[in-house]
Amino acid sequence: MAELTLDLRGVPKVRAYADLDTAVESILDGMHDEVAAMATVASVLHHGFGHLWTGFYRVVEPNRLLRIGPYQGTLGCLEIEFGRGVCGTAASDQRTILVPDVTTFPGHIVCDARSCSEIVVPVFGMQERLLGVLDIDSTERAAFDDEDRRGLERVLRWFARNVV
Ligand code: SME
Repeated sequence: MAELTLDLRGVPKVRAYADLDTAVESILDGMHDEVAAMATVASVLHHGFGHLWTGFYRVVEPNRLLRIGPYQGTLGCLEIEFGRGVCGTAASDQRTILVPDVTTFPGHIVCDARSCSEIVVPVFGMQERLLGVLDIDSTERAAFDDEDRRGLERVLRWFARNVV
């Protein structure tokens, strides 16, 4: 495999996500394994942008329970019920949630006290089956915006094309 270390810090977001999308498509060419893909996406995103925490929670009981999946960062909590915290809310509502200030989100689950803002994006496989959520945390307030939402939703469409 060609060496591929993306450094996206300081790159305008639209271009950063386009580069990231191209990299993910190339690295995962021919791959259909959900966990391998989640590990790859978490690594590329985390080190590319220098986030505090980047990882997946996977649906283990539909409409009831998420469990930690591949991630980069300090320890994440092991399980989150649907409807709880930002991840559980994004899973039950099946929509992206941007949290500019985690102290204002009711029920936010603190895993790392350095986290100030976050974005959580649902991940769908084929036929819109909910596979889990991608959770990214930052030490900066309001680190994420609509460009991150659009960019991440685009990168995560890899799962809808490749995971049954
Ligand atoms: N931010 C999450 C909790 C998980 S960790 O931050 C890894 C939430 O409230 O859903």
